[in-house]
Order: sequence, then structure tokens, then C-alpha cells
Amino acid sequence: MKTNQYFKKKFYDGSAEFNKGAFNMTNFVPTAHLPIVLGVTGASGLIYAIRSIKFLLAANYTIDLVASKATYSVWQAEQNIKMPTEPTKQEKFWRDQAGEENSGKLCCHPWQDIGANVASGSYRTQGMIIIPCSMGTVSKLATGFSSDLLERAADVQLKEGGKLILVPRETPLSLIHLRNLTTLAEAGARIVPAIPAWYHNPQTIEDLVDFVVARALDQFGLDCVPIKRWIGHE
Ligand SMILES: Cc1cc2nc3c(=O)[nH]c(=O)nc-3n(C[C@H](O)[C@H](O)[C@H](O)COP(=O)(O)O)c2cc1C
Repeated sequence: MKTNQYFKKKFYDGSAEFNKGAFNMTNFVPTAHLPIVLGVTGASGLIYAIRSIKFLLAANYTIDLVASKATYSVWQAEQNIKMPTEPTKQEKFWRDQAGEENSGKLCCHPWQDIGANVASGSYRTQGMIIIPCSMGTVSKLATGFSSDLLERAADVQLKEGGKLILVPRETPLSLIHLRNLTTLAEAGARIVPAIPAWYHNPQTIEDLVDFVVARALDQFGLDCVPIKRWIGHE
């Protein structure tokens, strides 16, 4: 029996029954249509996450979102807002913040849910972006600690050779931070610090934030943020 036939007979009988539960035989999905995993940590600058979500949803992408436990404290400290923990309520919360009511798809995963789809290398995605990314998360990723769903999902990207884009936010950086970031860069992560540029003549805070978001999403090859790109001296 050829491997393919064997596989079908033993593992896949083609029935709807098979597709129930935790496993799913997927049809081929082109990479460009796969979900993007978006991690939010307890670093300052939730506006970076909000603007990323806004532009990805507006461009009709699918987002699997994981916010770390510390994110809840930062929402409280920066905005005096209580972020809901329940996934559907949290989805509405992020959509309200981003001003994108219905566009794209957004699925929020609790930080403790280490059995979520994004925790497995067999779940196909375009990669993961962590924005903003705390030094705590940088440290845990550099050692493969995987103590919650966000860290595990990022670890999966590294082990699978997927894309992992980190937008660290801290200043100044200690030697330990720099070493951890170097370790992650050596492991294949792209480091896109939350450092805006000024050559595009920013007028608002959103102009500054969007520049960082655009440069981070550029690492996926996604061009969905309307920024003024440098085209040389005019
Ligand atoms: C208001 C506030 C702002 C913070 N800003 C930063 C920051 O910019 N960068 C950073 O690395 N940690 C920052 N922290 C500390 C992290 O939230 C803390 O180290 C946390 O344990 C990180 O957990 P996480 O990486 O799992 O989200 C901040 C904490 C609070 C409460």
C-alpha cells in the first residue's frame, strides 16, 4: 500500500466525523491567507498593538491574538481601562479600540490556554509579531522558557523556522537586554525596536506609531499601513 493510501485508511476516512474535535484535515491554504499571530505584552505603548490590529483587520487579515497577563496591568496604568479576559468580550474590546467593528477576523486566546491552536507547530500561520514586546518576554524567549501561551507561540515560530517579529520597548537597554535580543536575532527573530523616524514629517502621535507598525509588518512582506515611504530626494 502506498504511503498516501495508508495514511488515508488509517488516519483519515474523509468523514465529517474526523474533522470534529481538536484535529482538522485542512485543505491547502495559500500562505498569504493564513492567520497572523499577534502577541501583546506588558511593555508600555499599547497604541502600537492597537494600530497593528487596526491595519491588519482593515486589510482583511485573520489575527490570533494573545495578550500576556501583564498587559492587563498596563491597560489599567496607561488608560485606566479594565481589559476583559473572556475571549469574545476581549475581541470586541480590541475591535472597539482599533475602530474596526467587522473587518477581518480576530480570535483572542487567554494567556493561560497553552492548548490553543497557536501553541502547535502544526497550526499554519504567516508568523508572529509581538508588539510591544517587554524585556521580560525577550528574556523568556531567549531561554525558551515558554511559561504562557504567548511565549509558547513565539517558541513555536522559532523551532519551526517561522517568522518572529519583535518590537521591543524599553530604554535604556541593559547588557542583559542586548544579549537576549542578540540571542533571538541569532535564532532568526527580526528585531524592530519601537523607534520612530522623523524624515517622513510626522504630525501626530499616530504618524509616529504607524511608522513603527509599518516597518514591523514590512518584515512579513505586508504593506497595509499608509505611511510616507522614502523615495529619495525630490
Ligand atoms: C505601566 C507599565 C509599563 C511598563 N513598561 C515596560 C516597558 O516599556 N518595557 C518593559 O520591558 N517592561 C515594562 N513594564 C514591566 C513589565 O510589564 C513586566 O516586566 C512584566 O512582568 C512583563 O511581563 P510580560 O512580558 O509577560 O508581558 C511595564 C509595567 C507597567 C505596569
